[in-house]
Amino acid sequence: MTAYLAWVPAALQGVAMPRALPETLRISWPAGASAPPAETDAALDRAAGLLREGGLVAIPTETVYGLAANALDEEAVDGIFRAKRRPAGNPLIVHVADAAMARSLAGSWPEAAERIAARLWPGPVTVVVPKGPRVPGIVTAGGETVALRCPDHPLARRLIERAGVPLAAPSANRSEQVSPTTAHHVLEGLGDKVDLILDAGPCGRGIESTVIDCTVTPPRILRPGPLAREELEAAVGGPVAWSGDPPPAGDPPVARSPGTGRRHYAPRTSLELSADSTARVAELLADGKRVGWLAFADSVGADLAGHRELVAVPMPADPAGYARLLYATLHALDQRQLDRIIVDMPPAEEPWRAVRDRLTRAAAG
Ligand code: TXA
Ligand code: MG
Repeated sequence: MTAYLAWVPAALQGVAMPRALPETLRISWPAGASAPPAETDAALDRAAGLLREGGLVAIPTETVYGLAANALDEEAVDGIFRAKRRPAGNPLIVHVADAAMARSLAGSWPEAAERIAARLWPGPVTVVVPKGPRVPGIVTAGGETVALRCPDHPLARRLIERAGVPLAAPSANRSEQVSPTTAHHVLEGLGDKVDLILDAGPCGRGIESTVIDCTVTPPRILRPGPLAREELEAAVGGPVAWSGDPPPAGDPPVARSPGTGRRHYAPRTSLELSADSTARVAELLADGKRVGWLAFADSVGADLAGHRELVAVPMPADPAGYARLLYATLHALDQRQLDRIIVDMPPAEEPWRAVRDRLTRAAAG
């Protein structure tokens, strides 16, 4: 080793070597069981210990995998920003075990937040409320509000309880890349940056939570997600507004939720939404391009189906099923050295809003 080191230029000696890949621990909670198996509890204890010591742990939630740190530990939270290369101006969501923990982090607790927490938590909806003094400024990017969410994943909640602290957790991907819906996606994207990955299998929802600002009346949806406006209106008992669709190409982003800039969630392969995908795919193939295609069943004609340079992926015709597979499909196609990914334009109807939002951002190059 010493002999080898002698050959390393002096300038490189002492430079940190890439970290080894982190351990991945499988965890589960079989349906019907009153408690998880002993190995899962042991894994959660390990993770909770790491989190209390300031470590970074990738955790499953029902939406996407999160990159978690103790939300009350500034240095640990700083580690999240560095690992993701996330701009310091983009605040994090704090994950809680229940509504009581959420209230303990809020400066005040608006009626809309109370109703959403009572009716829709645990669940894929994040409330933005005034920040309490316990929450370090780095979590909220210096802002006076904090985003809080109680995940509908029993193992995530059990981990928060074990750690005994709320967990700041953005999606466990590099900033601007596609969110992970499996532990393997985390390993590929951030493998050398995390201390431990908890693997509970693929995420059920597949896209990030709905974010709703409860500091204004009526409350405003900042990011569309798995829970639709009608469900939020029913919970709140009154109207809920949209903060505005992604601005048209060329316009500056509406800086209401800092993380909803126009380009986001994008695969490395350039992606195009198409209203006439059959013609577009045929054109690209004729041009000698290698094409991936997220297709609704009826758009792939027999003439294209077998083409050697085409990877056509049939996508579900319902928005929840589509959302569940969307990121996993983009991750898989990104491994195939394709020139272009073409996506059939999803329907304009309201239930497709969150999927359209993510695809529009992925296409904004
Ligand atoms: O489903 C999810 O929400 C996942 C899982 C891991 O829980 N998390 C997630 O976190 O998507 P992230 O950091 O990728 O997205 C958080 C979004 C960003 O758009 C951010 O700008 C916004 O929430 N946000 C966080 N705090 C906010 C605040 N105080 N006011 C407005 N927007 C906020
Ligand atoms: Mg994200």
